Amino acid sequence: MRTPFIAANWKMNLDRAAVGAFCRALRAFAGDAARPACRLGVFPPFVYLPQVVEALAGSGVAVGAQTCHAAPEGAFTGEVSARMLVELDVEAVVLGHSERRQHFGETDEALARKLPAALAAGLQPILCIGESEEARDAGQTEAVLERQLQADLSAVEPGALAGLVVAYEPIWAIGTGRTATADQAQEACAFVRDVLRERGVEADAARVLYGGSVKPGNAAELMAQADIDGALVGGASLDPEEFAAIVEAAG
Ligand code: 13P
Repeated sequence: MRTPFIAANWKMNLDRAAVGAFCRALRAFAGDAARPACRLGVFPPFVYLPQVVEALAGSGVAVGAQTCHAAPEGAFTGEVSARMLVELDVEAVVLGHSERRQHFGETDEALARKLPAALAAGLQPILCIGESEEARDAGQTEAVLERQLQADLSAVEPGALAGLVVAYEPIWAIGTGRTATADQAQEACAFVRDVLRERGVEADAARVLYGGSVKPGNAAELMAQADIDGALVGGASLDPEEFAAIVEAAG
């Protein structure tokens, strides 16, 4: 059985005070014995990572970054390495989010270097993939997902990917309020698992998350699908009560 993983991607949002308030609320919620058994994760902007690691220490909530560089150090102004994150007791990293691919030119080639770097440093990568609206309309969804997965994982041995987390995030559903239907999300997540299996990855142990306009009102139906093992939540993860309601719905 795969424990659901519900992750909050704060993107470039919140401030120091709001981060503190969120962590206090999440700590109380995560410690509630009546809460459904979910793994929880929070992905703040870099600058808040030390604050969040300290505030959530011992709570069992995973703290992750929203990207990292492939090199351990060097002349890469503005970048942060996996090793630096690990030094801060950060456990995980989101890689390949569509906003990084779209706005910052992150390529599959760069991701093929970042994945092994994150794993070597001891970070849990959450690899994001997803198709554009044009690709879906053209019937290219599976081709896009397969291309991204094969390219991004190309430099990692399948055996090193035990416990991999992939987030299926259709670009047309991100921040639009237009969630994929449960059937669309299930179909894509099942396809992702099939591709992992064909690559030789232990696919039944990998988690495949859905992301894109997840809200308290649609989380239960999405999470009930056989191949959806959790959610990567953007907008609705900025409010601790909304995030908590999504976690409750997932259980
Ligand atoms: P929204 O939940 O705001 O659609 O964002 C999803 C997302 O991009 C999570 O990484």
